[in-house]
Amino acid sequence: MEYETIGKEPADKMAVMPNLPDVDAARVGFQWTDIYKDLDWLPGGYLNQAHECIDRHVNAGRGDKTALIWVGKNGEEERYTFQDMKEQTNKFANVLQSLGVEKGERIFVFMERLPELYFAIFGALKLGAVVGPLFSAFGPDPVRDRMQDSGATVLVAQPDLKRRVSEMLPALPDLKYTIIVNKDGRDKEPLAKGDLSYETLMADASSEFEIANTSMYDYSVIHYTSGTTGKPKGAVHRHVAVVQQYATGKWALDLHPDDIYWCTADPGWVTGTSYGMFAPWSNGVTQVIYEGGFSARAWYEVIQKYSVTVWYTAPTAIRMLMKAGDDVPARFDLSTLRHINSVGEPLNPEAVVWGTKVFDQAIHDNYWQTETGAIMVANYPAMPVRPGSMGKPIPGVEVGILDGEYNPVPAGEEGYLAVRPGWPSMFHTYWNNLELYNSKFIKGWYISGDQAKIDEDGYVWFVGRADDVINTAGHLVGPFEVESVLIEHPAVAEAAVIGIPDALAMEVVKGFVSLKDGFEPTEELRREILGHGRKRLQAIAPRSIEFRASLPKTRSGKIMRRLLKAEELGLPLGDTSTLEDD
Ligand code: WT7
Repeated sequence: MEYETIGKEPADKMAVMPNLPDVDAARVGFQWTDIYKDLDWLPGGYLNQAHECIDRHVNAGRGDKTALIWVGKNGEEERYTFQDMKEQTNKFANVLQSLGVEKGERIFVFMERLPELYFAIFGALKLGAVVGPLFSAFGPDPVRDRMQDSGATVLVAQPDLKRRVSEMLPALPDLKYTIIVNKDGRDKEPLAKGDLSYETLMADASSEFEIANTSMYDYSVIHYTSGTTGKPKGAVHRHVAVVQQYATGKWALDLHPDDIYWCTADPGWVTGTSYGMFAPWSNGVTQVIYEGGFSARAWYEVIQKYSVTVWYTAPTAIRMLMKAGDDVPARFDLSTLRHINSVGEPLNPEAVVWGTKVFDQAIHDNYWQTETGAIMVANYPAMPVRPGSMGKPIPGVEVGILDGEYNPVPAGEEGYLAVRPGWPSMFHTYWNNLELYNSKFIKGWYISGDQAKIDEDGYVWFVGRADDVINTAGHLVGPFEVESVLIEHPAVAEAAVIGIPDALAMEVVKGFVSLKDGFEPTEELRREILGHGRKRLQAIAPRSIEFRASLPKTRSGKIMRRLLKAEELGLPLGDTSTLEDD
């Protein structure tokens, strides 16, 4: 089969020699212990993510290097070296210790992207506590569910966010302390009765701290993730995850010591921790942290002003940038960008190719999950890109595609995407739910819940969540396949496709689309898009199309097909706490 391919220069001819010139060659004979020697470790064979991300660089004489450039939402700018980070995190570790917090306790953070968020998280890790990052756009219920389930003892929050959820705090019997971070005195009355002031505690804390002897198997981070049923489950990660976070930072993000790296993800989601903290800093790279939300102009401005070289963002953001028009990026100097990455949901081929037009390079999709803790499948700088493919598995990871009986299928066939257990950043359990955890492992595989195929050359192609796949007249139809085509119509900004019941075919495909600025949702246009779909897809084309001003998305940017489906079928809408504001 012929694939559309975006070719690459030979690795040794590229401006910066990629860390992984040949993924297929690197896989041969690879063992994860090969990476262990790149980490610093603690005396006695202990391992701590905060040590690997911060203190080791100071010990190695890189204390003066900038670790964090913070760009505030009001245009503020602050810079912190690795030495500064070491001191601030030591102080916070001492704060927790002076409050009597012990190794293994769950410390939740509820803040926007402020420097103090990072100090709190790494300080807690130094103490050996388990960190639970909360998405700053959560309301009281999702915060309560997570803190209650994990028995959190400390909440570190900014005043306005704490006020937003304060009604549920009494429902948390295990909560002992609420520490309020009042950045630059932004809030006039930050403290309620019983609250502790971060600034006051930090002022009195020593900047010397001896990192706890955490073993590689000690818990470090807990991330709640939504399944198909029930409340969110806490996927628990361990310090050893840093092995893979470090390695994929090198291989997939291609981080080099002089890079200026920007990850747009919120730390409340796993990308914001694994790749907004652990991967870049374990690689000793300077990262830009932008507090503000999405705006095409502001984002291009960040890239230009800070000379960003490596960028990690998400498909919805890329589509929003596309929607803003190509004349916007043309007004900025984006020439420092060397490598652009995307994750979290399907990246349609059109978006990959758009990168070549606007950034002079393909956008590199990669794949993983909260449960995997780090990147599993990626497009690498030195590997030709097949637009629409998520790339190839990283060295040390075996991906399989399984049939309904969980046996491998031949190349090119669709099935369940599964992974051989044993990668370093694999989750260790769902908090208080070992049964669900165990149910994810079948016949020696971890079952991801996604459907995919692997072509003859080893590229992995996403088909859809296992539960979103449509069966029409006995043909499995991946909604992504259909959406990719719809989105290539010049009027279409976003598309979502679901299966709706049909007496004859069991399900038929229905598309929901939002239009780009300047297009009107006319009957004529609707027919035109249907025709475009039919022409490209034939039997699996949408039978009907409905226009929407915008499509419902999760806070992390995934289009919620299930919500469209529930509306369509007149079912209850379920948990919509992660929906967009507008
Ligand atoms: C689910 C995991 C990846 C960290 C952030 C999200 C979907 C992820 C891709 C991709 C298509 C993707 C999968 C996966 N997904 N990456 N490149 N192409 N779909 O973590 O919230 O645990 O979501 O996101 O369905 O299972 P998450």
